[in-house]
Amino acid sequence: MTPPDTAPSANNLEAFFMPFTANRQFKKNPRLLAKAKGVHYWTPEGRKIIDGTAGLWCVNAGHGREEIKAAIARQLDEMDYAPSFQMGHPKAFELAARHAALRPGDLNHAFYCNSGSEAVDSALKIALAYHRARGEGTRTRFVGRERGYHGVGFGGISVGGMVNNRKWFGALLPGVDHLPHTHLAKNAFSKGQPAHGAELADELERIVGLHDASNIAAVIVEPCAGSTGYLPPPKGYLERLRQICDKHGILLIFDEVITGFGRLGTAFAADKFGVIPDLMTVAKGISNATVPMGGVFVRKPVFDGLMNGPENAIDLFHGYTYSAHPLACAAASAVLDIYRDENLFKRSAELSPYWEDGVHSLRGLPNVTDIRNLGLAAGIDLAPKGAVGTRGYEAFTKAFELGLMVRQSGDAIAMSPPLVIEKAQIDEIIDITAKTIKAVAPERRAGMGAG
Ligand SMILES: Cc1ncc(COP(=O)(O)O)c(C=O)c1O
Repeated sequence: MTPPDTAPSANNLEAFFMPFTANRQFKKNPRLLAKAKGVHYWTPEGRKIIDGTAGLWCVNAGHGREEIKAAIARQLDEMDYAPSFQMGHPKAFELAARHAALRPGDLNHAFYCNSGSEAVDSALKIALAYHRARGEGTRTRFVGRERGYHGVGFGGISVGGMVNNRKWFGALLPGVDHLPHTHLAKNAFSKGQPAHGAELADELERIVGLHDASNIAAVIVEPCAGSTGYLPPPKGYLERLRQICDKHGILLIFDEVITGFGRLGTAFAADKFGVIPDLMTVAKGISNATVPMGGVFVRKPVFDGLMNGPENAIDLFHGYTYSAHPLACAAASAVLDIYRDENLFKRSAELSPYWEDGVHSLRGLPNVTDIRNLGLAAGIDLAPKGAVGTRGYEAFTKAFELGLMVRQSGDAIAMSPPLVIEKAQIDEIIDITAKTIKAVAPERRAGMGAG
């Protein structure tokens, strides 16, 4: 039998069912990445692309880090895999202790999984199990937020607030309400946290009034929403949510899959805003995206609440074959060394004002209707052109053509470079973004008036 043709040529892109992709459109005009180092990708033809998005908001320490590679290789030599159900391996415990030391407050316990989506579903299940274990099993409802993204599990899409991620998939989880999103026109072009909108958190009181707190398990929000164009929280908003949750015994979950590990200039958004959630979901930067990993960080009272059964009973009937996979633990530990040794969270904070100036310099370019930034990330809204997403897609593909990787969400483009980026590279990102925005604006023809 002849072996199948597996060469990555344009002729055999058929078999891979690409996620979150217009497969047929992509395969007619593929964008392939073949190599990465530092803050750059290279296409198979050798074209250099600056990574304006740290992969998918995940390669915080930059690509191709030798220390992580070495740690993974050592672990592979030593032990490839060990189960974590009624067994354990030392690196998992070491990593959990290191993570606990990094976290604010008493978020002392770590449950590990393999992705942000798994982290979210795990957190929702931990919330349900916790309430049940302490005799409040009627607390089964969840509250999410419009424009929230919490991955693609059924739990995550149910509490999430992105219509396309929900409308195809039936009834979803029952018993979910949504807070309004916080993207207000009157906050346009805010630098950092916007001034208006703290009162939007009060909607939680309305939901409590509707269902009664005794039926509500948890509220989940991204402290700074990422996937719908980067929406920093209004000043005072998260504090208010925390107060209302405390008042009603509702758990507050921060989904820090994007904001965790330095994106906002602190280890976690919880540090940045001084608001401690009861549960925190993480992924992405936890392993610098080298080996898939996610986690739920759990406050001591919640963990203790689940330790109340008989000592020989399983505390949480939940886990994954690859929970605390040894390779992921080795990678995550090496990443923590890099974050510490290179002071990358501080570096992210120090670069933020420069980044802010850079992204806001794009104000006034054609079709730019809003620019938002916080930490080392930003969202830029472009006025739609016909169908929603058309101009956004054009901008995304144009930027790639000009040598820059950005994210597109509808007609917004989002950027979140690796935390190791240099100022000159920020300049390059801003320069290419400006060229892109101009390139996707309609041509102005003499005598046509304003275009
Ligand atoms: C806030 C948030 N939660 C969850 C997820 C899902 O993570 P994953 O794609 O690893 O499942 C993402 C992914 O972008 C995210 O941004």
